[in-house]
Amino acid sequence: MKKVVLVYSGGLDTSVCIPLMREDYGYNEVVTVTVDVGQPIEDIRQAESKAQIMKTEHYTVDAKEEFARDYCFKAIQANGDYQGYPMSTSIARPIIAAKAVEVAKKIGATSFAHGCTGKGNDQFRIELGIRTLLPEALIHAPVRERNMTRSWEIEYAQKKGVPIQQSLEKIWSIDENLWGRSIEGGRLEEPDFAPPEEIFQWTKNAKLAPDHPLEVAIRFHNGQPVAIDGQEASAATLIKKMNHLAGECGVGRIDVMEDRLMGLKVRENYECPGATVLLKAHAALEALVLTRDELRFKKIVDGEWSRMAYEGLWWDPLKDDLEAFIAQTQERVEGSVKLRLFKGSCQVVGRSSLWALYSEELASFDTATFDQRESTGWVKNFGLQARLYQHLRLKSGR
Ligand code: ARG
Repeated sequence: MKKVVLVYSGGLDTSVCIPLMREDYGYNEVVTVTVDVGQPIEDIRQAESKAQIMKTEHYTVDAKEEFARDYCFKAIQANGDYQGYPMSTSIARPIIAAKAVEVAKKIGATSFAHGCTGKGNDQFRIELGIRTLLPEALIHAPVRERNMTRSWEIEYAQKKGVPIQQSLEKIWSIDENLWGRSIEGGRLEEPDFAPPEEIFQWTKNAKLAPDHPLEVAIRFHNGQPVAIDGQEASAATLIKKMNHLAGECGVGRIDVMEDRLMGLKVRENYECPGATVLLKAHAALEALVLTRDELRFKKIVDGEWSRMAYEGLWWDPLKDDLEAFIAQTQERVEGSVKLRLFKGSCQVVGRSSLWALYSEELASFDTATFDQRESTGWVKNFGLQARLYQHLRLKSGR
C-alpha cells in the first residue's frame, strides 16, 4: 500500500491534489490531514465533507491551544513582527507540518503532498518543517511541480468530480487562524489599489465602530497574557476574546508591502485585531520593566527571531538561543496594561508592575531625594568627544 499524507485545507489547490496523487503520482491511498489552528469551523467541516466525498482517510487535528500557547504567545514574548505584520500565517506553518508528521508516523507513511505554489513562503516553511521532523520524508508539491494555473485546476476538478465552492474564495485568497486573517489576490495585488470594505470580516469599519472608547486591561505573567479585564482564560480563548473586542472597535487592519523569502515584493492585507492589541500591551510592559540596555539589545534579538519565524526556521538552533535570552527577560514582564480602543486606534493608557524600574521618588519634580546639584559635573562633561572633535574642526578650518 503506497500512502501519501496530504496537508489539506479543503480549498481548490489541495483538493485537486487528491485525484492527482492517485492517478498521476501512483499512490493507492491518500490520507488528508486538516490542522485546526483556529480557522472558521465551516472550513474544517468543508474539508471533512470533501474528504468523505473523495474517499480519503481523513484526520482533523485540533491544535488550537498548542498553537496559541507555543506559537502565538512566543511571538508575543519576542514582539514578533515582520515589516509591520504579526506573522499570523507564518507561525502556523511549522505546527501544521508537525501535525502532518505526527499523523504520518502513526499510520506509517513517509510521503507527503501540499498545495503550495512556487511563489510563496509557505512551501519553504512546510517542507522544512516536515524534513526536519522526518528526515526520510518524500514531499510532492503538484501545484508548483506542474506549474498549475487556477483555470486548469478548475477544469481538472470538474472533470474529476472534485467539489468546488462558488464563494468569495474565488476572488480573494484567504488564510485564517487564531493570530490573524490574511487576504490576497485579485486587484489587492496592485499596491495602489485601496482595499474594498468587503475583504474585512474580523474588523469593523472605524466609522461604524462604537462612539465610545473601550477600555481593556490585560494582565501578563512571564511576558504572556493571562487575563483580560481580570478574567483568566486559556491561551486560545484569550486570543479569540481579544480578536472580538478589538475587531469590534475597528482595530487591527494592516496593509503593507512585504518582502517574501525569495525577494518578491508583494502587497499584503491582514486583519490581526487581537495580535495588534496584545503585542502593543506587551511592549508597553517591557518598556516599564526592562533596562534601557536590555530594550535596545532585545530589539535586535526580536528582529532576528521574527525573521526566522517568518522564514519558517522554527527548529533552528539560533532561534533556540534567542529564545533563551528572551525567556530570561520575560521573567520580569509581569503586571497589567490598560488600553483604550477607539475607532481603529489602540492606545496604551496605563501600565503597572512589581518589577517597574520606575521610582516616583526619583522622577518627580516635587521630591528632594535626587539632589539636582549632583548632576552638574555629569552635564558638564557629557558629549566630551563630540565637543573635542568640533573644536578641532573649528581650529583647523576644515
Ligand atoms: N504573506 C503572508 C506570509 O507569508 C501570508 C500569505 C498567505 N495568505 C494567503 N492568502 N494564502 O506569511
